[in-house]
Amino acid sequence: MIDPLAHAHMNLVGGVVLLAMGVTFYLLPIFTGKRIYSIKLVKHTFWWVSIGVYSFYIIQMVFGIWEGLLLHSSPQDIPSVHRFYGPIMAISGTVMAIGFCTYLANVVLTITASSSGDEIAPLQNQ
Ligand code: HEM
Repeated sequence: MIDPLAHAHMNLVGGVVLLAMGVTFYLLPIFTGKRIYSIKLVKHTFWWVSIGVYSFYIIQMVFGIWEGLLLHSSPQDIPSVHRFYGPIMAISGTVMAIGFCTYLANVVLTITASSSGDEIAPLQNQ
């Protein structure tokens, strides 16, 4: 839970993926000559992914430490703790996945939008 899951997702999703999403929203108008379809969706992407990945990290760390300590003190109690892990992780993973979906939708809608948008609109001016 702590390594690889908490470590991997905080670095890959919280770092690399969020950076890649930001770079996409910066470069897409330059490459396509079109405005980003929705700046509101960009903000949704940021918040859903950020809240999702931080909650994912915290949950993995809490259960990792909790179950790790139980392993050394009373391993028979681990199943009664672990039954909460799945449902809580499912909520956190879904929050993160919603952020991925809003990102994908925004990119596809920007590329397929009919307006040619001859002006490149930087994010801060929209
Ligand atoms: C909505 C987004 C995501 C969710 C809900 C999610 C969830 C999970 C889960 C549940 C596992 C554990 C699988 C198992 O039990 O073996 C896992 C493993 C992993 N994920 Fe993700 N993930 C997401 C996105 C990503 C992304 C974008 C990356 C990389 C860029 C990534 C990298 C990894 C890695 C490296 C592992 C560890 C694989 C292993 O060593 O077993 N995940 N993820």
